[in-house]
Amino acid sequence: MHINMKIDAKYTVVLVMLVGFISCQENARPNYQYMPNMYESVGYETYQEADVDVEGNQIFEYDMEARLPVDGTIPRGDFMPFEIDNTVEGYEEAKANLKSPLDSTQVDYEVGGPLYTIYCAICHGIKGAGDGTLAKKDLIIPGSYAEKDITIGSIYHTIYYGKNSMGSYANQLNESERWQVAEYVAKLKADLDK
Ligand code: HEC
Repeated sequence: MHINMKIDAKYTVVLVMLVGFISCQENARPNYQYMPNMYESVGYETYQEADVDVEGNQIFEYDMEARLPVDGTIPRGDFMPFEIDNTVEGYEEAKANLKSPLDSTQVDYEVGGPLYTIYCAICHGIKGAGDGTLAKKDLIIPGSYAEKDITIGSIYHTIYYGKNSMGSYANQLNESERWQVAEYVAKLKADLDK
């Protein structure tokens, strides 16, 4: 009996402490934060205007945290800006004046041909006669290159921006690939026109 009394007292203490802990916790309010600077760091954003109230947050003048590239900046690598617009006037301009940068020794149908087959033949057909798989199913009507009044410049413009129901291929083909494909289309047209 004596021993039992002792154990009961111990349990009672533990029970009181537990109840105490649980009833002190309030889920409806945020809990205490210890060392809040770990939770609330200064939010640096690359192009954000700096918060002038936060000390040390002014990296550049004009309160900018990083500089925007100057106008006309282009990415490094195989990227060249295309100055001609995606408009009817741009199309006519390209048709009349845009010339291929490739000379006859640089034109490589071994490069342009396979790319044409991958990206274009599904609609235009292997030889450009407008009889690709999708055209045969009447899903799209590209027409034969033979019937089109196109130049190397207009072909490049069409690859770059697309035309009506044809989409742009500027993302799939880089600049030199676009010219190789344009040269290949010009060759297909020349063969069809024979
Ligand atoms: C999804 C089908 C489709 C694919 C793929 C496609 N085209 Fe076309 N293309 C068309 C259609 C449709 C037209 C007719 C657009 C019009 O004149 O309304 C066209 C027109 C053209 C023209 C003539 C534009 C003009 O000046 O009249 C050229 C050149 C051309 N495509 C080249 C390409 C090349 C090169 C590729 C591959 C990089 C390609 N196309 C991929 C559907 C396609």
